[in-house]
Amino acid sequence: MKFDVLTLFPEMFETLNQSILGRAIEKDLININLINIRDFSKDKHKKVDDTPYGGGAGMVMRPDVVYDAYKSVYEPNAKVIFMTPQGKTLSQKKVESLSREQHLIILCGHYEGIDQRVIDEINPEEISIGDYVLTGGEIPAMVLIDSVSRYVGGVLNEESISEESFSTGLLEYPQYTRPEVFNNREVPEVLKSGHHENIRRWRRAESLKNTYSKRPELLEDVELSNEDKKVLDDMN
Ligand code: ADE
Repeated sequence: MKFDVLTLFPEMFETLNQSILGRAIEKDLININLINIRDFSKDKHKKVDDTPYGGGAGMVMRPDVVYDAYKSVYEPNAKVIFMTPQGKTLSQKKVESLSREQHLIILCGHYEGIDQRVIDEINPEEISIGDYVLTGGEIPAMVLIDSVSRYVGGVLNEESISEESFSTGLLEYPQYTRPEVFNNREVPEVLKSGHHENIRRWRRAESLKNTYSKRPELLEDVELSNEDKKVLDDMN
């Protein structure tokens, strides 16, 4: 999977070289190519922004500079994404579908935004990471890259994906490790039993209870077995 990131702050993306993504990059499972939009400025001071027509606070990124940066990586098969609070909110479903692409071009705005004409010209898919405003699209782009990369083959082991929150439609069950007793709190007996079927049923019940108490609206989209329904009935 190739990510081309168009940004004025490529240094911000260094944090992606750690841990699981760092290993995925080393193994060439993902490729994160950072394009500094400033390199495409024709101005002798490398200016990339200017004051807004009509007045108002802040600076706006120039359309010509952004467009030249975009053209340097564009290819017809690439999916182009613009990180903006005006976009559709990112979901696990969207993450999964983006992970089936081969090439994502991600445009990050900064300051007051980007001249609308280049957005109209490129016509990217607009994606938000939530209803709050950040100083730029860089952190949202990192959220997108991290969440999508987890689905790229070989980045994680398959089980972590199928068992996790949202993939089953439910929140996760609680996890425990050593020590067996911590501040008088014990690890649930069933997890030490070695009885795989009982463990599976206990975990499913805990997932259901967790979802019911923390995010009940998620249950509307989950197909419940009779055993699931009994777990939820017993909670009331
Ligand atoms: N840029 C600024 N805030 C953002 C958000 N919430 N999502 C995506 N891009 C953004």
